[in-house]
Amino acid sequence: MTDTLEAFIAGLPKAELHLHIEGSLEPEQMFEFGRRNRVDMPFNSVEEVRAAYAFSNLQDFLDIYYQGAGVLQTERDFQEMAMAYFRRLHADGGLHAEIFFDPQTHTDRGLPFSIAADGLLAGMKQAETELGITSGLILCFLRHLDEDAAMATLKAAEPWLDRIVGVGLDSSEVGHPPSKFARVFKASKERGLALCAHAGEEGPPAYVWEALDLLKVDRIDHGNRALEDEALTQRLVASGMTLTVCPLSNLKLRVVEDLRAHPLKRMLDLGLKATCNSDDPAYFGGYLGENFVRTAKALDLSRADLVTLAKNSFTGSFLDEERVAHHLTAIDAYAA
Ligand code: ADE
Ligand code: ZN
Repeated sequence: MTDTLEAFIAGLPKAELHLHIEGSLEPEQMFEFGRRNRVDMPFNSVEEVRAAYAFSNLQDFLDIYYQGAGVLQTERDFQEMAMAYFRRLHADGGLHAEIFFDPQTHTDRGLPFSIAADGLLAGMKQAETELGITSGLILCFLRHLDEDAAMATLKAAEPWLDRIVGVGLDSSEVGHPPSKFARVFKASKERGLALCAHAGEEGPPAYVWEALDLLKVDRIDHGNRALEDEALTQRLVASGMTLTVCPLSNLKLRVVEDLRAHPLKRMLDLGLKATCNSDDPAYFGGYLGENFVRTAKALDLSRADLVTLAKNSFTGSFLDEERVAHHLTAIDAYAA
């Protein structure tokens, strides 16, 4: 093949399975919404905001990420933020996305649940009509809050559950193990929702075991530290568990010190069902395409590796079998 790596990746049909929509809020849009909604911001310019995006760990990032979300006030804000993300995904050759949102970040500052949910659903509908991108919405529980608050959020979401594909677990990992949320995950499963949890980003392998055995998740978000435990790695391989890996996030949050030391290639070689995703692209310096390109260069990924990542993004998605099969056929045709 003579086309460039960038062109090959751009044309490769792919899905994004780990994207926090609030983490797609670019500083320019943050200022636009802040002005429109008369929300005071602790920054004077876009450059000042970007300069503040130097993180030593997950908590450093979360502090500024929750602050940034304060400019989101109306359904229109959520719809426009979502559409800005979908345009980026479209430009990168993405065809499908399963997007996380953090309702408690918004309800805890007084917005009704409907503002975020209806705004995002409107953006998702618009993306399908205008760009042909399909998507699913995943409601995340904030793990630094208690399980009763997560239960109350699930209850508030009840009227929207026919339009929500699953639940997730995010925010500060260490000190907040999956076991804290066993009840609300059981209740979510009983309501027919798919289950995801961030585990093994900063937390130990024991948190990944808990996500599997206590929460009974369908996907592990990140999962990097599972590699420290051979029996756990074997379990993940044998069960075909999807890991939604986020290389540029891992670099920015110092989960890895150098992209060349990122475990994505090792995961693929071990037979783990890894995918490549952007997490919070406005904060971590790259959308889906950039994550693929920079990781492929740093780890010298082969075209076969890239095709595997693309296929995993659909077989690991919550799309129905027929749609998955359609995308896999398209990937095979493209790769040939
Ligand atoms: N919320 C947004 N991004 C996150 C991440 N990478 N880990 C945990 N919680 C998050
Ligand atoms: Zn995440």
